[in-house]
Amino acid sequence: MLMFSKEIYIQRRLRLREQVQSGLILLLGNHEAPMNYVANTYHFRQDSSFLYFLGLDEPGLAAVIDLDAGGETLFGTDATVDDVVWMGVQPTLRAKADSAGIAAVSPYATLAGTLRAAVEKGRTVHFLPPYRSYNKILLHEWLGIPPAAQKEQASPALIRAVVALRIKKELCEIAEIEKACAVGYRMHLAAMAQCRAGAKESDIAGAIEGIAIAGGAVSFPVILSQNGETLHNHDHSQTLTDGRLLVIDAGAETRLHYASDYTRTLPAGGRFTARQKEIYNIVLEANNHAVCTAKPGITYRSVHLEAAKIITCGLQALGLMTGDADESVAAGAHALFFPHGLGHQMGLDVHDMEDMGENYVGYDDETQRAEQFGLGSLRMGRRLQEGFCITVEPGIYFIPALIAQWKSDGKLSRFINYPKAEEYIGFGGVRLEDDILITADGCRLLGERRIPITTDDVEAAING
Ligand code: GLY
Ligand code: MN
Ligand code: MN
Repeated sequence: MLMFSKEIYIQRRLRLREQVQSGLILLLGNHEAPMNYVANTYHFRQDSSFLYFLGLDEPGLAAVIDLDAGGETLFGTDATVDDVVWMGVQPTLRAKADSAGIAAVSPYATLAGTLRAAVEKGRTVHFLPPYRSYNKILLHEWLGIPPAAQKEQASPALIRAVVALRIKKELCEIAEIEKACAVGYRMHLAAMAQCRAGAKESDIAGAIEGIAIAGGAVSFPVILSQNGETLHNHDHSQTLTDGRLLVIDAGAETRLHYASDYTRTLPAGGRFTARQKEIYNIVLEANNHAVCTAKPGITYRSVHLEAAKIITCGLQALGLMTGDADESVAAGAHALFFPHGLGHQMGLDVHDMEDMGENYVGYDDETQRAEQFGLGSLRMGRRLQEGFCITVEPGIYFIPALIAQWKSDGKLSRFINYPKAEEYIGFGGVRLEDDILITADGCRLLGERRIPITTDDVEAAING
């Protein structure tokens, strides 16, 4: 079984116990999920919190930590001879529990009784918000909570404790993320090597996905399109055309399931036009500024707003925006062109712990999420701390439907030159995404080498 040493998981669970007062903690692993019939399953992905606290990358497991009596039990099912015929010899439940440092094991079928007995005694069963339908059905059966109410009834104490632990990356985790970054580097360099007019988006997407799978998996479905103004575009049906931009947002997940997440924007024909470079270099300046300024003690919201100001000033210089830059940023006018956040936490999930609720991860009592269009999409606004791994991903996009809507509403027209914005319809989008680690006094780029990012370096990588 591929995992960190058992002491790491024992320590993590000890720290978890210290932070949740009483009752039972239920850590629910994932099950195989049928794709089109029961025996043909999706690629198995274990739950990330289950991986964090137990490291066991196998379907059909659950763990219960009894905070009052102190015991820990791993629930699962041993393979039968029939299973072995099809799947080979499997580690026993006892062996799995030993690898994670858990004393007791019990058949999965007994978990329902354990939980129901606890509920009958009025004990709290702490569980995390479920995101898989099958786990929602199980929780309904065991705890009597209908799926629609489960997110609300998930344990805030457990969520806060898990977030507090997972958000600050240990050295062994950073080393894994660096491995994911190395694979991400190779994915993007391979895409650059294949980028030329006449190439098919689907061929490049398939090639880079293959690189990720060879090292583990993709950390999310590849985003790769000349229609990069659609932020998460998974359509790869076009042929590359000279004069267009190709946005590639793709990362890898290691065998221990730590992620990387990178975006580069390439000239589909191998050379950026002067007009493309103007927009590209604004986004690059926003990215570089964030990488230079992110440090412990400042909020990521402030870093996001500085990126928004750089984008605003850059677009003003091109005649796309106008007016006082600070007022424009405060009003959210840049969100017409930069409608998403500067970044998010990254770790065992590419959007780390998003299933817990973004506001638990990216916000806190001090920094509350804004409602304004654009700023409201910032997944991570809170004060930075050493050990956070986050993405830096500014972008500028010309989204026809958004420009048309804002124009017809006359929205923030004192800051936006709508006729000029309409001239850019068909331009697509530019996003440049890197992954950083917050250090004691600043931050550093993750990955041994930065994926080529200046227009000269990108052109050199494309043209050999
Ligand atoms: N890969 C999606 C994102 O950059 O957040
Ligand atoms: Mn990304
Ligand atoms: Mn990202």
